Amino acid sequence: TQVCRVSSDDSASAASSMEVTDRIASLEQRVQMQEDEIQLLKSALADVVRRLNLSEEQQAMGSRRGPTKGNTPHFYKHFSHFFCIIKQQGRQVFCSNTHFQSNTHAEESCFKFSESPSIHPLSIHRLILTRVAGGGWSLSQLTRAKAGDTLDRSPVCRRATYIDKQEGYVKMYLKGRPITMYMPKDQVDSYCLEARAELPSNKLKLDWVYGYRGRDCRSNLYLLPTGETVYFIASVVVLFNVDEQLQRHYTGHTDDIKCLAVHPDKITIATGQVAGTSSDGKLAPHVRVWDSVSLNTLHVLGTGFFDRALVCLAFSKSNGGNTLCVVDDSNDHVLSVWDWQREDRLAEVKCSNESVFAADFHPTDSNIVVTCGKSHLYFWNLEKGMLVKKQGLFEKQEKPKFVLCVTFAENGDAITGDSSGNILVWGKGTYRTNRISHVIQGAHEGSIFALCMLRNGTLVSGGKDRRLISWDNSYQQIQTVPELFGPIRTIAEGRGQTVLIGTTKNFVLQGSLDGEFMSITQVDGHTDELWGLAVHPWKPQFLTCGYDRQVCLWDSSSHQLIWAKNMDDAAQSAGFHPSGSVVAIGTQTGRWLVLDTDSKDLVTVHTDGNEQLSVMRYGPDGNFLAIGSHDNYIYIYAVAENGRKYSRVGKCSGHSSFITHLDWSVDSQYLVSNSGDYEILYWIPSVCKQVVSVDMTRDIEWFTYTCTLGFQVFGLWPDGSDGTDINAVCRSNDKNLLVTGDDFGKVHLFSYPCSQFRAPSHVYGGHSSHVTNVTFLYDDGYLVSTGGKDMSVMQWRIV
Ligand SMILES: *[C@@H]1O[C@H](CO)[C@@H](O)[C@H](O)[C@H]1NC(C)=O
Ligand SMILES: *[C@@H]1O[C@H](CO)[C@@H](O)[C@H](O)[C@H]1NC(C)=O
Ligand SMILES: *[C@@H]1O[C@H](CO)[C@@H](O)[C@H](O)[C@H]1NC(C)=O
Ligand SMILES: *[C@@H]1O[C@H](CO)[C@@H](O)[C@H](O)[C@H]1NC(C)=O
Repeated sequence: TQVCRVSSDDSASAASSMEVTDRIASLEQRVQMQEDEIQLLKSALADVVRRLNLSEEQQAMGSRRGPTKGNTPHFYKHFSHFFCIIKQQGRQVFCSNTHFQSNTHAEESCFKFSESPSIHPLSIHRLILTRVAGGGWSLSQLTRAKAGDTLDRSPVCRRATYIDKQEGYVKMYLKGRPITMYMPKDQVDSYCLEARAELPSNKLKLDWVYGYRGRDCRSNLYLLPTGETVYFIASVVVLFNVDEQLQRHYTGHTDDIKCLAVHPDKITIATGQVAGTSSDGKLAPHVRVWDSVSLNTLHVLGTGFFDRALVCLAFSKSNGGNTLCVVDDSNDHVLSVWDWQREDRLAEVKCSNESVFAADFHPTDSNIVVTCGKSHLYFWNLEKGMLVKKQGLFEKQEKPKFVLCVTFAENGDAITGDSSGNILVWGKGTYRTNRISHVIQGAHEGSIFALCMLRNGTLVSGGKDRRLISWDNSYQQIQTVPELFGPIRTIAEGRGQTVLIGTTKNFVLQGSLDGEFMSITQVDGHTDELWGLAVHPWKPQFLTCGYDRQVCLWDSSSHQLIWAKNMDDAAQSAGFHPSGSVVAIGTQTGRWLVLDTDSKDLVTVHTDGNEQLSVMRYGPDGNFLAIGSHDNYIYIYAVAENGRKYSRVGKCSGHSSFITHLDWSVDSQYLVSNSGDYEILYWIPSVCKQVVSVDMTRDIEWFTYTCTLGFQVFGLWPDGSDGTDINAVCRSNDKNLLVTGDDFGKVHLFSYPCSQFRAPSHVYGGHSSHVTNVTFLYDDGYLVSTGGKDMSVMQWRIV
């Protein structure tokens, strides 16, 4: 093949040597043409900037003289960036933003210069002008637009807003699309776009976190001397006092927490997080060391050192707990040892190129760290700032694919659990020479995920087989507890004779080893993305549903699960009938069902289209149900017998993209809808007719406000938003507050109405993934937010 390639190359080059010269010449010519063109463009652009400056000056002068009459509205006034396209038409060159396309008013094609340089008719360029401090504009970017270029992929489309006084609307651009929002008639004269919105006087306090992260995290559940159980979900550490049914929260983290360690003093806690993203960019992974009594942060370690998520953490035990070992999730899984009080790194080493599941200090020798993971068990010795590795030798024992967990006996023996279901004991005397001293073959069926050595010397193991087994100090089996709530992720010693268990199904259980294991489900959680959220109209209850096909009804005052029900399809949305007696659930398949709120019995099932149903909303009089679908239709049903009988009225068609949000008018006569392409449409649902008359719709009073687009709420959009980063909006029932959930895990609290450009808000973290829904409870005392990927439900008190 070598020979073959050489000969073909030779012949190719011989044949084309003439062409090469020609091609170079033609390329040179083209480069020259382009350079000329750029020259011309530059002069055209300078002209644009000059004209912008000039017209702004004139406007400033004009407004000093009083209102200018008949002037083109200076729509670009509220742009921080200004985008336009240069086009040639005949002898004239236009700088216009006609890429905004539909609904483009004449005023939006802005500049025309007649002394035009001649630009190649096919060349279209994008130009971005940026407002400079102190007024005026500067050219910040010039790129050639390509055929098929759309604004969606362009970073230039910044939000811009302007007001048209005569018509009484505000226009805002999201991703380059104009959104026209009419204000109520009585506000037209007094409304001023430049007025500053106020921060709300209320704030939020995290009150309750529903959920636990057991599906993919280890060793993350402990009992503290305060009687609190500590664990985490999303970016919140929960300290849960089961007896008093109280939760406290440590909220110092900025993204998903993946590991947790308790200091031997049982007060100091270390937690490690992943690398995150915020609206301002990247968040560095780091470890926070904090006081579980005061919840004060004591130290922050490794910002700038760690590159990826932190997956294992442990405090040393014998030297007063002065050192902390950390393993990150980089390709090398770097193991580092820290003097955490001095925030000083003592040593670091590449631990393994494969997954690491656990790292812990030897109980009596703080210079020894044991790590385990995919096909490895290492004993590390810290000597003069170096971590020296010894491999665990399996010898005659079959080497397990994964060593999943490690704990220590009081005498210093290391005990490991592995994917073959074996428990191996690495005797203290021998494990400095890394040998196995005892084997419990086939302790479990399948992987052993967790081991815990109790104070009285009893070893407890748990695994994929969902069983909990206890072993005495000569490794004889004492008891087996069959367990029903999922594979056991972690085990911790509870109070008195109790044991705490976290499962991969995100349950936390408390029980006792002897006799029957009492499953006290204090915490229950979803196990897949969570989207649906509905609030009971007159009780402290709310319902959640998600892609795990589970529907859960919660009591927000006792924080208990009232019932859970499994469905056939992944759930997407939910809404209560105004009587509270039934709740409608929309799924991802177009099927929707109605459940009895008390009995969770199925009332009825229907199917509309075959796409996901993004909104289910009953009218306030309870006589209609509106269903927003991803197939661009809104399906309307007449409802009778208090939500027990449904007959289809029709489907409203008019949107050119999927329905995202719906709200009913107070009198149940009108519906407003938002769609994926940022349209706002109005409907008479009883006849499925669209209402286009502005006069008919601008003064409608809406029963709820969950639409993200509209005059009353447009101030919630952050500068530079692409229009998809706010997932949910909810107005409080007293109409004073507006809450939003965004793609960066934040809940924002605004004053309502929120009709000023860039309205200020209080911002709250806690979720580590997109906040999928957020809603006030029936009496405005609390609100609830759901996290998508973090699967958590957070309840906030309004203070
Ligand atoms: C426009 O105004 C800005 C700020 O006043 C100034 O920096 C810029 O040079 C002006 N441009 C032109 C072309 O006059
Ligand atoms: C880790 O290293 C071993 C040997 O050095 C190699 O066989 C294996 O493929 C590597 N694994 C990964 C995930 O890179
Ligand atoms: C050790 O403690 C566990 C749980 O607290 C208990 O179930 C067990 O009976 C105890 N074993 C002995 C030998 O005391
Ligand atoms: C979000 O919450 C609101 C308020 O409870 C609810 O009406 C709406 O249907 C929810 N959205 C989804 C997709 O469930």
